[in-house]
Amino acid sequence: MRDERNIILIGFMGSGKSTVAEVLHGMGFDCIDLDALIVERSGRTIPEIFARDGEGVFRDLETEALRSLAGLRRAVVSTGGGIVGREENWILMKALGTIVYLQAGWETLRTRLAAGEGRPLADKSDWSKVEALWRRRLPLYEKADLIVDTDDRTPEEVAERIMKAVSRSWELGVTSPGPS
Ligand code: S3P
Repeated sequence: MRDERNIILIGFMGSGKSTVAEVLHGMGFDCIDLDALIVERSGRTIPEIFARDGEGVFRDLETEALRSLAGLRRAVVSTGGGIVGREENWILMKALGTIVYLQAGWETLRTRLAAGEGRPLADKSDWSKVEALWRRRLPLYEKADLIVDTDDRTPEEVAERIMKAVSRSWELGVTSPGPS
């Protein structure tokens, strides 16, 4: 049973969820990227969904994609940064496994987001708006079962830390691994 549980990665855009998920994949977990699932099922990119239908429709697709993962075993699920906004998503994530928050400081996030593309809510012409969104979400991310600081760690170090904490807690039969 304990070897079949899932890890759900949450965190702001640019916190390294997809990269850490790939490393965990190399450690034997199946890997599911929720945004990629939404794109695959809707046949549209995320910027297209936001531009044509609006954020509300995207959030519905996101919850639907999360719900469709029920029954998943030994996988790491990388979520979009806004997954924490709906109470229903928390219920679904908790049912799937251990929720891990990849924490990163604002400077780290801004630098990574400046180098990236395709994120409708990371408006590079208005960083104060993006930072305000990050600040508003912080208390939500902190509801995770495990918080891992990623600022001065490589994705491999972050993945190691997650593995150590979750395998210990799964052996003990608890969900929350406690402080990392
Ligand atoms: C979003 C984050 C994105 C994606 C969408 C909305 C958000 O995912 O789901 O653009 O609300 O923070 P990443 O966190 O993987 O960039």
